[in-house]
Amino acid sequence: MHDPSCAAPWTAARKVGGCVVLYQSLAEELDALLRGETDPVANAANAAAAIYHSLPELNWAGFYFLRGEELVLGPFQGQPACVRIPLGKGVCGTAAAERRSVLVPDVHAFPGHIACDANSRSELVVPLLIKDGPTRDGLVEDCLLGVLDLDSPVTGRFDAADQAGCEALAAIVVRHLAPCWTPRWAPR
Ligand code: SME
Repeated sequence: MHDPSCAAPWTAARKVGGCVVLYQSLAEELDALLRGETDPVANAANAAAAIYHSLPELNWAGFYFLRGEELVLGPFQGQPACVRIPLGKGVCGTAAAERRSVLVPDVHAFPGHIACDANSRSELVVPLLIKDGPTRDGLVEDCLLGVLDLDSPVTGRFDAADQAGCEALAAIVVRHLAPCWTPRWAPR
């Protein structure tokens, strides 16, 4: 029998709004869903749909991809959203610029939060990083593809287990998108 106390934090089952969230099984489903397909738009679209419909209490789930010095809206589920976000702006731009996950329990308390859906109360943004990718200078370092953005209408919806779980999901998405990555997607 599965014992959550023995599991890594992101694999533990936990209840959100009466639903048990099992990031490990979601990660396995996501990997199977994306495997074998090489089109990045198709894979990002299916990943957004799978995440949106698997995690409770979300009102938006999707991707922004790096285009030059800004993030541009990618496949998502939820209300129509702002299309372009400069690096360093909002929650998404901060996560991208600092290449780290940003967990915001209360979006009204985050200076510069960009309100795409007035119902959003909390947000979790995870960077999509290709580990040890090539840079413009021919150096090898983590290469930023974009971000995975989750919004919730519930204040304090996300915790450290969600962050760890979504970082694992983001790593799977990156693994399936990275082979299709072309210089057209690179910072210019
Ligand atoms: N709230 C985000 C903008 C994107 S939407 O939430 C979909 C931000 O502050 O970057």
